[in-house]
Amino acid sequence: MMTFIGTANPGFSPYAMEELRRRIPGTSVSGEAAGETFRFTSGEREPAELLKELRRDEPVFLRHLFPLEAEYPVTADPAATVEALTAYARALEERVPGRKVAVQIRKTQESPFPFSSAEARDIVAEVVRELGGESVVQDADQIVSVYASGKSILFGCSDPKDNLSDWPGGAVRFRREEGLLSRAAFKLLEAERAFKLPLDRFNHALDLGAAPGGWSSVLLDRGLKVTAVDPAEMDPSLYKNPRFRHLKQNASDVSFPPGTFDLLVCDMSWDPHRTCRLVSALSPAMTAGASGIITLKLMYRKPLQTLRELMEEYADHFDIRKVKQLFHNREEVTMWVRRKP
Ligand SMILES: C[S@@+](CC[C@H](N)C(=O)[O-])C[C@H]1O[C@@H](n2cnc3c(N)ncnc32)[C@H](O)[C@@H]1O
Repeated sequence: MMTFIGTANPGFSPYAMEELRRRIPGTSVSGEAAGETFRFTSGEREPAELLKELRRDEPVFLRHLFPLEAEYPVTADPAATVEALTAYARALEERVPGRKVAVQIRKTQESPFPFSSAEARDIVAEVVRELGGESVVQDADQIVSVYASGKSILFGCSDPKDNLSDWPGGAVRFRREEGLLSRAAFKLLEAERAFKLPLDRFNHALDLGAAPGGWSSVLLDRGLKVTAVDPAEMDPSLYKNPRFRHLKQNASDVSFPPGTFDLLVCDMSWDPHRTCRLVSALSPAMTAGASGIITLKLMYRKPLQTLRELMEEYADHFDIRKVKQLFHNREEVTMWVRRKP
């Protein structure tokens, strides 16, 4: 049996833990840092099989995981901490020679861990180099994960594909690109990666709940034609683009000829069941097989139940490809669907 350290968005670890409890027979699950980080065991499942299954069918709320291979008490003492970091790193002597190794350090606010992430990373990376590994930030063969909580320093080393995300704790960071009109744009950029769905493969997007225009601007940047629907004002810079048009209307009042769009995106701040009815009513305006990227607001107290209901409702018109709480999602998750033929 193997123990893993899992991470979810702040406040969502109870749901991530519940999802895993339902999926892994015999697992034991316990909190590590309130609301965000927790332990779970592989229970009756063979660890490698479990990892394969989690990759193939990703849980919605589990953002990141790593195998727990060593645990030391955390202290504020720099010398003891250097000892713990180097002791774990040295134990990797058979796993790092000739490999590209990234070291990812995270610590909770309440942890007495005495180093910054960069300082701790340098300590571990030096040992990796001494052992004949190459210390890298991206495109690693192995990721050494170090997580300092209030009680312990937790260590593990894994193939990045077994972490669900190669970002520390699954916290995907984008450079503040020129021309991004809202923070919401990061959600669409992250969805593009998480769903492995290059946006430039589409031609004409319908953007529901589009203001102020972060998603529209990303789609225009990718070369798409964009029809934005929102009763609110859009950023004036968008109107300069001849591929952009704005219908200043409620999304329930618009209609389009059949098969107009090969992509529908929807980030409306609205009741998710009503959003589903509205998106379904507009589905004939999508080509058969067109994709939809839709934010589902989790405004009720039982997110897992809400999601189950929504999946059933969307399944009438769409094949559900993936549902994921992205790092940039707050009280919501993002779904990728394809219109049924
Ligand atoms: C979170 S914002 C969207 C942000 C946008 N994706 C961006 O990147 O800038 C939600 C928007 O949904 C719009 N909205 C809410 N209900 C709507 C409806 N029934 N029809 C159209 N837009 C709606 C709001 O006016 C608001 O501008």
